[in-house]
Amino acid sequence: MNKSLRKAVIAGNWKMNKTPAEATALINEIKPLVADADCDVVVCVPYIDLFAALEATKGSNIKVGAENCHWAASGAFTGEVSAEMLKACGVEYVITGHSERRTYFGDTDVTVRDRTRAALDNGMTVILCVGEYLEQREQNITMEVVRSQTKIALAGVSKEELDRIIIAYEPVWAIGTGKTATADQAEEVCKAIRELIAELYDQEAADKFVVQYGGSMNAANADELLSKEDVDGGLIGGAALKAPDFAAIVKAASK
Ligand code: 13P
Repeated sequence: MNKSLRKAVIAGNWKMNKTPAEATALINEIKPLVADADCDVVVCVPYIDLFAALEATKGSNIKVGAENCHWAASGAFTGEVSAEMLKACGVEYVITGHSERRTYFGDTDVTVRDRTRAALDNGMTVILCVGEYLEQREQNITMEVVRSQTKIALAGVSKEELDRIIIAYEPVWAIGTGKTATADQAEEVCKAIRELIAELYDQEAADKFVVQYGGSMNAANADELLSKEDVDGGLIGGAALKAPDFAAIVKAASK
């Protein structure tokens, strides 16, 4: 009913893939294929590829994002990059809370909240990832996990700032496994996230809030997932590294 209030967002998460030269080549391949997209198109790339990506996307409808950002503006944080630095480079989007950051690099709900805050303070749009592990789904606590991750990350976020937040529901068991959530499973959780937004803010905010699904979304299953009322787009890993596949997903979201 309210899907028309929202523009779909298809974002690639390249993870730890592609050199700068390869990034330029991939973007040049993607550009003509998505030029007439009727959805927002974003590529989130490794830090080292940001300049190449910003250069290659100039004058196109593709926006560039980073895959993480630090919460402090600057300081003794070896190996980290601040939201302020990203903003200075012209980066418009940033992913926070990806399960790979939570699992392998010690990100917690609280650091995800702080990274999200820094990105918002620097004018960027955040793709905030939430999602349950397989054991949590099997324990029937998916909703509790996703609600709690979302509530903590959104603590202190105003209704106005919500316009610059997208939540990507990414069940961890579906990431890089080829095991996609069924469209009904994706819809159930995306809908619950929207209901939580209504609960925390109001129905107007919830109606225009963009919720993506991520986890083995590909050219073959995108149509069905994106046809669901509360699935407003996708955060794409593996399939974002192949121009025709990524373009097919963008096309599915443009219908
Ligand atoms: P895959 O599409 O490779 O499963 O990755 C999803 C993901 O983690 C996007 O952030």
